[in-house]
Amino acid sequence: MSDTYHLTVVGAGYVGLATAIGLASRGHTVDLVEVRQDRLDALARGELPIHEPGMDAAFADPVVRDRIRAVARIPEGPSDLVLICVGTPVGENGRSDLRQLQSALEASRPLAQSGVPLVIRSTLPVGSNDQIIRWAGGDPSRIFTNPEFLVQGRALEDFLAPSRVVIGRFPDADAKALAVVETVLSVGACPVMVVSVAEADLIKNGANAFLALKLSYANELAVLCEELGADVVTVIDGIGLDPRLGKKYMQPGFGFGGSCLPKDLRSLTNVGRDLGLEMHVTSAASEANESHQRRFARRILGSLEPGARRVAMLGLAFKAGTDDVRSSPALRVAELLMARGVEVVGYDPHAARNAAAVLPGLHLAATAEEALEGAGAAVIGTEWPEFRELDWRSIASRMAAPVVFDGRRLLDGPALRALGFRYEAVGAPVSTQPARVRGGARAAG
Ligand SMILES: NC(=O)c1ccc[n+]([C@@H]2O[C@H](COP(=O)([O-])OP(=O)(O)OC[C@H]3O[C@@H](n4cnc5c(N)ncnc54)[C@H](O)[C@@H]3O)[C@@H](O)[C@H]2O)c1
Repeated sequence: MSDTYHLTVVGAGYVGLATAIGLASRGHTVDLVEVRQDRLDALARGELPIHEPGMDAAFADPVVRDRIRAVARIPEGPSDLVLICVGTPVGENGRSDLRQLQSALEASRPLAQSGVPLVIRSTLPVGSNDQIIRWAGGDPSRIFTNPEFLVQGRALEDFLAPSRVVIGRFPDADAKALAVVETVLSVGACPVMVVSVAEADLIKNGANAFLALKLSYANELAVLCEELGADVVTVIDGIGLDPRLGKKYMQPGFGFGGSCLPKDLRSLTNVGRDLGLEMHVTSAASEANESHQRRFARRILGSLEPGARRVAMLGLAFKAGTDDVRSSPALRVAELLMARGVEVVGYDPHAARNAAAVLPGLHLAATAEEALEGAGAAVIGTEWPEFRELDWRSIASRMAAPVVFDGRRLLDGPALRALGFRYEAVGAPVSTQPARVRGGARAAG
């Protein structure tokens, strides 16, 4: 690698760590700035403060680790480029809370004013340009956006081999600054789009909202299937054979979560409304997502065996492969059950600590078996593959009632029924026949 730089990455979360470790593995040196002491302490011990497959191994490489210096404040320099990766969570009013971004940009001012280009990798709500320029106090010609498209669970992999690199620039962008940004962010033959800041924001928000629409649609089909006695997995298998449609992002469940999709759906809806536009599609998808979580909770409450007041929630993360519980549907359903007097004992291989921090009153078990001991029902809240490997035969005798509500279509329904379980799954009739497909058979669970 010929062009290596001294970079400043602000924020050591999922995106900031993938960015810092990815750039260090490409030969750059990185000052990684983080305000949370627990995250700095973990990094100082040589540990990652988040669970992200593949990232630990990359960070364990001494060559990569030596190129990263974790610090509490943005150093005065030297720096060739500042990459801002702080959080932009949903605020109480349903809009993106930009306070982390404001503080990061204000702290970057001395570097920006000395001519160092800034790249904002955090997801911005469309139309936040003026604030950004004001907070950075710098010349907009050296401020760029670069929305991140990584998927948690394979964050580093996605950073190192992205589907596309989108760079947003303000009018009259400084050509030399843009060249540095492109050099740092470009990867091999990956397409690079240099567009306006508004277009970059819309590409990011629009892509996430589209993924959310697909998931909402699959979940709505699941509801229809439950009422009609059909199996949504079979229906989506059939829909997905159409090459125009495919099956990606059509895994049915009881709602989607995470820090991105729900937020970006709402963000796009709010931006449209601010412009006097009614955003029918995105607002309906947000409402549908909440309703699917409530429906699943109602279904569990309505089908618990009489007297069963304890439920084991297997999986608390918003999806498998991460310890992230932001907007986790499993936690939302746990909360709804607890509000109706049900004791919920949760287990998650990686997300228990984060879950305890956001849902007080949730009991936590150290193992799935411990959570299931004496429970009146098991709920699959997250699709961790290890739940398939549990010894369900012995678990059946240790539960108060052998009942499973599979919210993620993870388990083998017929096999569980053969063990004496009552098995109910999202998008499935109470009893399904195996579906046969010529050219590849699959059993409907
Ligand atoms: N998580 C994802 O999958 C993903 C994917 C694409 C884009 N994004 C976007 O990227 C951004 C970051 O997401 P994340 O999941 O990494 O968030 P995160 O909350 O995990 O990480 C943000 C980090 O920034 C730190 N921080 C806040 N203010 C700071 C400051 N002034 N100086 C230094 N550090 C500061 C926080 O303490 C936190 O550790 C968000 O805008 C998000 O929407 C996230």
